[in-house]
Amino acid sequence: MIVLFLYMLLNEFKNHFTISLSDHYSKSEISAFFRRLTDFYFQWPPTFSVLNPRYKLNQQELHKLFFALNELKKFKPIQYIINECYFYGRKFFVNKEVLIPRPETEELVSWVLNDFDGAKNYMKLLELGTGSGCIAISLAKEHSKFNIEALDVSKTAIEIAIKNAIKHHVEIDFIQKDMAVLDVWNKPVDLIISNPPYIDPRDKSEMLPNVLVYEPHLALFAPKEEPLYFYKKIVTLAQHSLNRNGCLYLEINPKFRENLLGFIKSKTFKDIEVRNDIFGKERMLKAVKS
Ligand SMILES: C[S@@+](CC[C@H](N)C(=O)[O-])C[C@H]1O[C@@H](n2cnc3c(N)ncnc32)[C@H](O)[C@@H]1O
Repeated sequence: MIVLFLYMLLNEFKNHFTISLSDHYSKSEISAFFRRLTDFYFQWPPTFSVLNPRYKLNQQELHKLFFALNELKKFKPIQYIINECYFYGRKFFVNKEVLIPRPETEELVSWVLNDFDGAKNYMKLLELGTGSGCIAISLAKEHSKFNIEALDVSKTAIEIAIKNAIKHHVEIDFIQKDMAVLDVWNKPVDLIISNPPYIDPRDKSEMLPNVLVYEPHLALFAPKEEPLYFYKKIVTLAQHSLNRNGCLYLEINPKFRENLLGFIKSKTFKDIEVRNDIFGKERMLKAVKS
C-alpha cells in the first residue's frame, strides 16, 4: 500500500523510521542509516535532524526516504540502495554486480602502502579480482609509483571499476579476464594483490541475509570442492610472474590459513607473514618471491 503524505515533520518520520527498523537492526545502526541517507539525498550535516525536528519533509524528500526504508526492511545493504560506499576515505560507485568493499580490505591496502612508503622507483602491480576497483584505485591515489593493471572475470565489474577510476582521475588498465585460465602474467610484475572469493559455500547457513541475498555470489564463494581454488591459482601465477623479491599480498579466510600456508611454503616464497584484521581474525598474508 502506498501512503501519500503532503508533508511530514522530520521528527515524526525519524520516529517512524526507527520503529519500523527496530526488529531488524540495532539502534546505532538505524541512526547511522538515517544520517547516511539524509547526507546522501539532501547533503544534510549529521546535526540537522537534531536541530530541526519540526522541519517539513516535502513529498519528494519523503518519497526517497520511504523507498530507502522499505529496502532496508528487506535487508538490502544501504550501499546498494544509494549505490555508494566509502573505501579508504573515498566514495565508490557500487551496485549488486560488485562486492561492497570491506574495512578489512582497507587494512590490506594500508599494509602495501606502508611497505612501499617513500619508494622512488616505478613498480608494476597486478590486482586479481578487482570488483569495484577499490583496491587498485586506492593504491593508485595513494602511491604515484604504482603502474597498475587489474582484472576481473565479470564484464560489469570491469565497467564499474573503470567508472570509479574516471571518478577518481587515475589511470589503471582494467582487463576482463578469467584468472582460472592464467598460469603466468604477460610480463613480470613487482607486486600482486588479491582479495579473491574465499567463502566456503558450506558456510552459507551462517551468513546474514544482507550478504547472502544481495551480494554477488561470484565475488563471495570459492568452489565447493576446493575452497583454496583461487588461492592456488593466484600463488601459482605469482610464482611464475613476480620478479625476484616481488611481493604477494592476499586477503585470506582464517579457516583455511594452515592449508594455504602449507601450499605457499611448497612454492618458492620466503618471509611469509600473516596479520590479523581489526576484528582480531587472521585475515591478511604477505609472501615474498625468493
Ligand atoms: C571478494 S571480491 C573482491 C572485490 C574487490 N577487490 C574488493 O576487495 O572489494 C572477488 C572478485 O573476484 C572476481 N572473480 C571471481 N572469479 C574470478 C575469476 N575466475 N577470474 C577473475 N576474477 C574473478 C569477482 O567478480 C569479484 O569481483
